[in-house]
Order: sequence, then C-alpha cells, then structure tokens
Amino acid sequence: MVGTGYVGLVSGACFAEFGHDVVCVDKDESKTARLLRGEIPIYEPGLDQLVADNVRAGRLSFTTVLADAVPGSAAVFIAVGTPSRRGDGFADLTYVYAAAEEIARTLDGYAVIVDKSTVPVGTGRQVQRIIRETRPDADFDVASNPEFLREGSAIEDFMRPDRVVIGTTSDRAREVMRALYRPLFLLETPIVMTTLETAELIKYAANAFLATKITFINEIADVCERVGADVQDVAKGMGLDGRIGKKFLHAGPGYGGSCFPKDTRAIAQSARQAGAPLRLVETVIAVNEERKRAMAERVVAAAGGSVDGATIGVLGVSFKPNTDDMREAPSLDIIPALQQAGATVQAFDPAAVHEATKLLPDVRWCSDAYEAAAGADVLVLLTEWNEFRALDLERVRSLLARPIVVDMRNVYRQAEMTAAGLTYHSIGRASIAD
Ligand code: UDX
Repeated sequence: MVGTGYVGLVSGACFAEFGHDVVCVDKDESKTARLLRGEIPIYEPGLDQLVADNVRAGRLSFTTVLADAVPGSAAVFIAVGTPSRRGDGFADLTYVYAAAEEIARTLDGYAVIVDKSTVPVGTGRQVQRIIRETRPDADFDVASNPEFLREGSAIEDFMRPDRVVIGTTSDRAREVMRALYRPLFLLETPIVMTTLETAELIKYAANAFLATKITFINEIADVCERVGADVQDVAKGMGLDGRIGKKFLHAGPGYGGSCFPKDTRAIAQSARQAGAPLRLVETVIAVNEERKRAMAERVVAAAGGSVDGATIGVLGVSFKPNTDDMREAPSLDIIPALQQAGATVQAFDPAAVHEATKLLPDVRWCSDAYEAAAGADVLVLLTEWNEFRALDLERVRSLLARPIVVDMRNVYRQAEMTAAGLTYHSIGRASIAD
C-alpha cells in the first residue's frame, strides 16, 4: 500500500483484517515512525484498534522503503494524494505518476498495480505506460479500484461495502483482485468488474451525483422557507420512493470535506476538456460555494440585522461529525464572515480544534458546548456531533446573553426550543417558526 494517508491507512488495515499480509509504505519518515509506535495520525473511530490488532498478528507493517514492500506482492496499491491543482481545479497527478515510476523500478514477478486514489479517467492507462516505459521487461497489469469510504465510518464502509468496483485489463488481474476481496463473498457484496476507464468514471459520477442530491435538497430547503413547507418532511416523502432513496437528502449549510468539492471540480474540468461539459455539476459547484458563503448572513439576520460587537457561539467546526477534518468545512466560510462583520467568535469542537486553530486564528476555543454558549448573543449549531443532539436547553438558555439559536443541521424541533424559551432558526423550516 503506497501512501499512508486516509485511504491508504484505512485500506491497508482493512486488507490486513481480511487476512492478507500488508506492507504500508510512506516516504514521510516522521509519520511512519509514529505509525511504527502505534500512533494513528488521523482521527477515525476504530482505526487505532484495527491497526494495533493487525500489527500484533504480524499481518500489517510500515516502512519508508518501497523496495521493502513491492517485491513479492501480488498487488501494489497506489493510495497517494490527488489534490486539486491550484487555479484550474484539475486533479494533480504528480504523486500518482511518481509512485508508478518508483514501483516499476522495484517490481519482480507478476503484480497488479492498483489505483486506489481518486483519479481522472485515463490515469490508469498513463500508469500502465509509465511502468512499461520505466521497466520494459516488467510482468504486470494495471487496475482501478476506487474507494467509497466516508470519514467517520470508513472501516464499516470498507468491511461491508454496498459494492466493490474493479476495472482491469486482463483475466489474470481480475483473479488477483477478486481474491483480495474474497471475505466479501460471504456477504454477497456485488463486485462490478469493468474496464479501467469505466471504473475511474464510476467514482467521479457517484460523488458528483451525491453532491447534486445534497445541493438539490438544499435548494428545496430554501423554497420551503419561502412557502412555509418543512424540508425534512419533503425529504422523507421523496426519499421513500425507492427510485430516489432517503439517504443524502439532509439539508444543511452545504457539503464540504476532502472528496465532494475536489471531485466535482475535477470531473467538471475533465468533462469540459473532453468536449462533454457537465452543466448540471458545474451549477452544483457554484450553488454550493454560494450557499456556504450565504450561511453567515442567516446568523446576522437571526441576530437582528447586525453582529457588530456581538459574540457568536459555534458548536462544531469540522465538515461533518466524527472527524477532525477541516477541509472545505462550511465553518471556514461562515466564521471569518462573522468576524469580518464585527463579531467575536467562541467555538467548541470535540475533535477538530487542533486543525481548526491553524485555519481560524481569531477564534476563542472552548472546552465544551456550554462554554461556547456562555455570554453569546447567538448560538450556531454547525456540525451535528452526537453530543450536540441532547443539550440541556434550559441551561443553554440561562447561559446565552440573548436566547437565539441557529441550527444549521436541523437537529432540534421548534417546539422544544420554544418551550425552553429560545428563538429558533433552522434550515428549510423557517416559516413554521413564524
Ligand atoms: C464522501 C463519500 O460519501 C464517499 O463515498 C467518498 O469516498 C468520499 O466522499 P465524506 O466526504 O467522508 O465521504 O463524507 P459524507 O458523509 O459523504 O459527507 C460529505 C458532505 O456532505 C459533508 O459536508 C456533509 O455534511 C454533507 N452532507 C451529507 C449533507 O449536507 N447532507 C447529506 O444528506 C449528506
């Protein structure tokens, strides 16, 4: 497993749990040293235990030396980063191609080189070409095996996936890949065997579709607010139609994270370049960006038109619960906008404070939800961590300077907020409050 970032580390540990021998390689010496000491550099529930168990069982190890990992491997996964290139939004493939070249140098015997990183259509063929050019004598095939892991439930997603997608160029490679996922046969997990290009596109199409679904319900939420409807009932009523499905219809402040923003931009760029622009996805990207920015205005409106000199308490800053990941989190748009408008922001997050401090410098960090509420003019629930789902509302009311709550995740109900003496604003349910 080349690359011990989020995807590489989770996949490596899970393949070891499947019973395979896995060697994880990462050039980053300090990261590898930490992993060797049993420290997990990312926040993912259950991962520390999974890594520890498999290291102890002798199935999982870590090294900085590629040549210690590749020779003798049936499959070599490329799980290095593919950041958005600054300026044009294309996926930056420098690390993928560098890994391919290095792997080629150390290959001995037949191996399948597998792209696990999310890569644009055509990357698998490029990897094939690079390996062939670097080592004309190498015996190998290339495969694409995109991941569909959600942060916070990545282990479950790996161990019990809805499907596994594998794109390859030969029967021999297909057999190697099938063997890797053999434990899933018991669960009757569908395995989609297809071509390299198709597998690569499936990943982008799936993420772009999910981003579209979220953006769709977010815009419906805006309509609900205008016409006095309840977006949660709309989502429920729509989602019970088996053709639509109820998941990913939760209205909120806009999607963030390491995948949706980056992948939608990448597929939009590639599609345009290929002469088949995805106008729908391009609109989704623009609508979501605009939405994240517009969320601060809701807080200002809830405060009565101005937050100049006000104190705003914020609950949750990570892009979603159960992660310390701040990438493209709505908080990164909302909090600076509030500060710009003259507010002092005090915030609490159960896991992301360390990351957030670097990105949100002028925030006063609190040690729990009630401290973030203390003396605030508005309390904003931004990320739906479980511990924010059962707040003592009477206590919140007594701590706030003004009894105003903006719930951007629709965690609470109007009635319970009113009963606690709080003025409540949520998403797509505003008119019901009137
Ligand atoms: C996503 C995909 O789900 C996963 O398959 C892919 O491999 C990587 O990207 P992740 O980014 O970890 O995973 O989180 P996810 O749970 O999908 O949420 C993404 C964003 O959408 C978050 O900002 C979340 O708050 C938002 N979201 C999600 C909504 O606003 N409403 C929803 O109904 C669902």
